[in-house]
Formats: sequence, C-alpha cells, structure tokens
Amino acid sequence: MTEKQLSDLILPEHIGIIMDGNGRWAKQRGLERSEGHKAGANVFRNICNYGADIGLKYMTFYAFSTENWKRPPKEVASLMKLFRDYLDEAEQRVKENEKRGLKFHLVGEKKGLPGDIVRKLDALERRSADKDVMTVNLAINYGGRDELVHAFKALARRVKAGDLNPDDISEKDISDNIFTSGQPDPDLIIRPSGEYRLSNFMIWQAAYSEFWYSDILWPDFTSDDLDKAIIDYCKRSRRFGGV
Ligand code: FPP
Repeated sequence: MTEKQLSDLILPEHIGIIMDGNGRWAKQRGLERSEGHKAGANVFRNICNYGADIGLKYMTFYAFSTENWKRPPKEVASLMKLFRDYLDEAEQRVKENEKRGLKFHLVGEKKGLPGDIVRKLDALERRSADKDVMTVNLAINYGGRDELVHAFKALARRVKAGDLNPDDISEKDISDNIFTSGQPDPDLIIRPSGEYRLSNFMIWQAAYSEFWYSDILWPDFTSDDLDKAIIDYCKRSRRFGGV
C-alpha cells in the first residue's frame, strides 16, 4: 500500500487469518504436505511483518487447531518443527523483532504442546511483553470451543468460591477469561483457499467481524492480497446490530 492510500484509510485494528490451503498448494506441485506448510510459514513471516509496517495493532494467525492433532503424525511433527524453527529464529532475530515492536502472545492451550515449544513460547512472550507496535497472536493448539470451556470453568470456580454471583456474569466476564483477554475483537477475518468456514476460529470474538474470502492458497498469499482485503473491509458499513 502506498503512503497516500494508507493515510486515507481507517485500518482495521485487529485482523485474524485462517492460513488455509497449504496441503493443496503442495499437491499441485507434487510435493509433500509438509512443503506446503513450510511455504505457508514463510508467508506468515512476510504478512506478519507487513501488517506491523502498515500500522495494524493486532494480528492473529491460526496455525494449529485443537482438531489438527487428528492429522497423520508425520504432518503434525512437521508443523511442530516449523513452530520450533520460528521460535528459535525469533530468538536469533530478537533485535529485528524488537525494532519492529512485535509483541508475541500464545492464543491456545499450552497443555498438549511439546515442552520445549512451550518454554520457547513463554520466553518469547516474556521478552516481547513491553513492545507496543503490533501484537502477534499465535493460535497454536487453539480451538474456539475449547477456549470457551476454559473460560466457563474459570467463572464456575469463582461462583463456587462465592466470589461471583451467577446472575452478574456478563459478556465482559467471558471476554476477560479467554486467550485474547484485554484485546479488541478482530475487525476482519481472512480465509484464503476457497473455503467459507470459521473452523472453530475465534467463535466468541468473531460476533461482529467482517469476513473476507479468496481462492488464493495461503502459500501464494501476498501483501497485495492483504491490501485488497483491507480496502474491501474499508468499504463496508459496520452497524453492530444498529442502523
Ligand atoms: C491448513 O492448511 C493449515 C494448517 C493446518 C497449518 C498452518 C500453519 C502454517 C502456515 C505454519 C505457520 C508457522 C508458524 C511459524 C506460525 P491445510 O493443510 O489444511 O491445507 P489443505 O486444506 O489445502 O489441505
């Protein structure tokens, strides 16, 4: 996007992306699915940096769902390796990420993830906690329903302890007990690859999100595609149930 275009737009504050189509991208090229994920991880790097450079405040990338454990062990292992490599690289590129002002946050369940990945994620979260240009939510071992179950359990514990009256439970209590607590809901959710589903992604937070779909497979997604999605979003009229 040019400086002029950028200054004319009111950008979405938070964009969520369902990074889909890696497998089909690999198949079209006669490659292993893991090669598609690898190409997808590089696109994630570019789009994440581009989002921060144009002034987005939050981006959430759906990288691994609670349902993705059902995939063949070889594919799961290849995805875990990509996360591991990215986290190691983030450690090496600490200066570059710091300069860009990226704050990293895990949106997902630590339980079930390999211990070394959890430790690397914790370290990255800690190290980047004071950055304020853009928050990068890594949705790994994430499920929207799972997230809500955890929130309801936390609230139920407070009710049991006599800390909370069930009649006083509000929407804010739920928003405060999910992984994106304290963040704005996504204004725009992007799903490439020709699928028109939310697939358990931010089902609470997406109540008033705008959706943008495209046939492009994630490994082919470019910053121009992100621009297109943002420009389309800016033309929409959001009424949040009002008139
Ligand atoms: C869905 O495409 C994609 C995934 C389950 C994995 C997404 C993960 C990445 C792009 C890597 C991210 C890396 C980091 C470091 C955060 P699919 O495999 O279901 O595609 P298909 O529908 O074409 O088979």
